[in-house]
Amino acid sequence: MPSLAFTVAADRCIQCDACVKDCPSHIILRQGKIPSISPSSEENCIKCQHCLAVCPTAAISIFGLKPENSLPLTEGILPSYQQMKTFVRGRRSFRQFRNEDVPVEQINALLADLAHAPTGCNDCDLTFSVVDNRASIERLLERLVTEIEKESNAALPEFIVESAAAYRRDGTDNFFRGAPHLLIVSPGSKATCGQEDAVLTLSCFDLLAQSAGIGTTWCGILKLVADAVPGVRAILGLEPNAYFYAMMFGLPAVKYARTVQRDTAAQIRRIKG
Ligand SMILES: Cc1cc2nc3c(=O)[nH]c(=O)nc-3n(C[C@H](O)[C@H](O)[C@H](O)COP(=O)(O)O)c2cc1C
Repeated sequence: MPSLAFTVAADRCIQCDACVKDCPSHIILRQGKIPSISPSSEENCIKCQHCLAVCPTAAISIFGLKPENSLPLTEGILPSYQQMKTFVRGRRSFRQFRNEDVPVEQINALLADLAHAPTGCNDCDLTFSVVDNRASIERLLERLVTEIEKESNAALPEFIVESAAAYRRDGTDNFFRGAPHLLIVSPGSKATCGQEDAVLTLSCFDLLAQSAGIGTTWCGILKLVADAVPGVRAILGLEPNAYFYAMMFGLPAVKYARTVQRDTAAQIRRIKG
């Protein structure tokens, strides 16, 4: 394993031990004036960069990353609870999209943000597969339906058969809901919590994209089709049994005027220990 390149600027370190206390692997020690990581414990680093993030004086660099290249988290910069509450309640699943692609630069910027979603053990072992434009998703949709049609109807859930028939009948798209883009997130073999990583990364995308004025909808139907129709994963460029989840997105053609009301939708129970 290459060195972590953990360095502490002696003139900036105030010996507060914030890095020592926050390291999840407890490998940062302060034996003299300056915190350090012994070479023998470097392999226990999970590469979370908490040491770089927590240092109040920007004294720490790791993996060659300079603290001044991080976004500063100054007072009041994060959204308030009131803002987040309205956002979580006000985000929606969009099923009407404008006939316009999201610029690829904006998609790339969102994907860079998305790489900040947490993963179990900070494995960061995910692949983001993206459909960049309407022409590509239309080709994908046609191939998907053709693949479904090769299967015997009896072997498939009825809604998949009906969705394929509706597409052939009049072009109705119950698969991607007319969205011009799709994001598939799939974990690699090194991921400790791969399925959870994939789903919560998409959940972050849902919020991120909607904050940028882009409509999203979870694409559970694609997962169900891929599980029922063997050739579909190959069309998506995925390994035969690979786990994935997907979300469609695009510029919305609908605006919601208010939130829905489901405060009591979940059952709440208390664990007394
Ligand atoms: C895991 C998951 C899979 C979903 N799959 C689909 C889908 O394939 N097609 C679709 O139109 N909506 C899909 N949805 C959207 C749900 O129908 C939607 O979240 C629900 O009706 C609540 O609406 P809201 O998201 O606007 O609050 C999915 C949602 C989730 C969480």
